[in-house]
Amino acid sequence: MAAPALPAVGERMERVVLVTGASSGVGLALCRRLLEEDRRIHLCVACRNAQRSEATRESILAAHPTARVSTVEVDLASLASVLRAARDLRRRLQRLDFVYLNAGILPNTHMDFKALWQGLLTGKALHMLTTAEGIMTQTDRLNGDGLQEVFATNLFGHFILVRQLESLLCGNERPSQLIWTSSSSARESAFSLSDYQHAKGQESYSSSKYATDLTSVVLNKKLNKQGLYSSVVCPGLVMSNLTYRILPVFVWKLLMPIMWLIRFFAKTYTLTPYNGAEAHVWLFKQKPESLDALVKYHSCTSGLGKNYVEPRKIYVDEETAEKFYEKLLELEKQALERYDDLLDN
Ligand SMILES: NC(=O)c1ccc[n+]([C@@H]2O[C@H](COP(=O)([O-])OP(=O)(O)OC[C@H]3O[C@@H](n4cnc5c(N)ncnc54)[C@H](OP(=O)(O)O)[C@@H]3O)[C@@H](O)[C@H]2O)c1
Repeated sequence: MAAPALPAVGERMERVVLVTGASSGVGLALCRRLLEEDRRIHLCVACRNAQRSEATRESILAAHPTARVSTVEVDLASLASVLRAARDLRRRLQRLDFVYLNAGILPNTHMDFKALWQGLLTGKALHMLTTAEGIMTQTDRLNGDGLQEVFATNLFGHFILVRQLESLLCGNERPSQLIWTSSSSARESAFSLSDYQHAKGQESYSSSKYATDLTSVVLNKKLNKQGLYSSVVCPGLVMSNLTYRILPVFVWKLLMPIMWLIRFFAKTYTLTPYNGAEAHVWLFKQKPESLDALVKYHSCTSGLGKNYVEPRKIYVDEETAEKFYEKLLELEKQALERYDDLLDN
């Protein structure tokens, strides 16, 4: 479905918001919540294919029939698809005020229940249960572009999208915001500059989310002057298609009473996509200039079910971040050479 044309500049300046991973979970809840905040936004939902885009659009319109919702198809694991989507958006839009880089995968996950049991005995269980450190590993694979799939989907596809949309994001009369859905699983120990796609390890998800944090830090340094600000958020532990791939739905349902109890101690057990989108929605209402680039904004839910946002410092080595960014640029150069026909020259 093509987007309705935007009003000419000077007419009502509604905010234009793009959300990736809008078809389910946090992304879908976020779309609905953004329309509750401001029903005049032009919401563009980015989904993997036309069928999912249309289903997402219809589901949003069912609750907000007068909302302005357009769609764009993007498979973030395919560079050609990302370049096509960016070209499509450049042709259709005059600017973008918010881009939520939210799509993500956590495939082929293995849980180490023995490590969790040992954590219970050594007092580390709460840390393990809130960060998945030491209890969750993945088996990754190469995608059609020859990139590690988790890196490509969670970070690199989004990075290329942002780079290709710079003309819509920078130099606008109002600042624009990138909001990356990172995770509390983002861990420096899972990331290495020499294997930044994480081909050799078994923590590709943590690595990709740490790489996301590094990227956001550098984007702020490079683009704040041009009016583009970048933030990272963690939705907390949310029951979604992503978590249902770790354990079957019925197991999660059986565990639910325990998780409600854990929530009294672990406020990042947000559990529902609505709660998980709290930090994303909070950022929608902030002045980007007032945000701290070295903070991750966590969606939290109290034991009694009250939602709030907790900023937590992120510890990134800025030199590593810069070096990693250089590597992303090198990889981008190689990618763009291959897909020259999809660029507007
Ligand atoms: N759930 C949690 O506990 C948790 C915790 C921390 C961080 N997160 C992060 O939160 C974000 C949203 O996850 P969620 O929990 O809402 O899971 P979800 O319901 O599985 O949503 C993931 C979204 O990403 C999309 N997606 C996946 N691969 C894609 C691709 N190649 N191209 C385009 N879109 C793609 C999915 O689209 P399809 O419908 O087409 O698959 C879906 O819309 C992710 O970045 C995740 O890493 C989640």
